[in-house]
Amino acid sequence: MERTFGIIKPDAVERNLTGKILEKIEGAGFRIVGMKKIQLTKTEAEGFYYVHKERPFFNDLCAFMSRSPVVVLALEKEGAILAWRELMGATNPANAEAGTLRKEFGVSIEENSTHGSDSPESAAFEIPYFFSQLELV
Ligand code: RTP
Ligand code: MG
Repeated sequence: MERTFGIIKPDAVERNLTGKILEKIEGAGFRIVGMKKIQLTKTEAEGFYYVHKERPFFNDLCAFMSRSPVVVLALEKEGAILAWRELMGATNPANAEAGTLRKEFGVSIEENSTHGSDSPESAAFEIPYFFSQLELV
């Protein structure tokens, strides 16, 4: 059984969309193995998104991700990494398929409501960035 990592981003938590997004996650057959609501510091956001540190949007992205609380998730399902990316949809909500979370809830290419690991290597870095072994049940 594969595990992936997700975030319900500040734009979605601010608009009280946490429950609706969790309902879609569980409805799609993911088992939630870890979940907590936290507020990132800017430094923690920078550490999480370090792969993007040279990108022009890096500073804005880290300011956005630390402006208000997020819900971090470890999700389990067969083929979880790809399945979660598919449920989220394209990075830019304008290009996301109907029925995806970003199409339904995303505001803009930056404020796109959810994050998902893009590979097994990313998931292996991202899950333990936020969760200890004892928090994955
Ligand atoms: P994520 O990592 O959050 O799941 O999103 P992603 O793989 O679909 O997209 P990625 O290229 O990894 O970008 C990470 C996040 O940075 C913001 N972004 N802003 N202003 C821009 O052009 C721009 N491009 C990306 C988004 O919040 C994106 O999800
Ligand atoms: Mg990404």
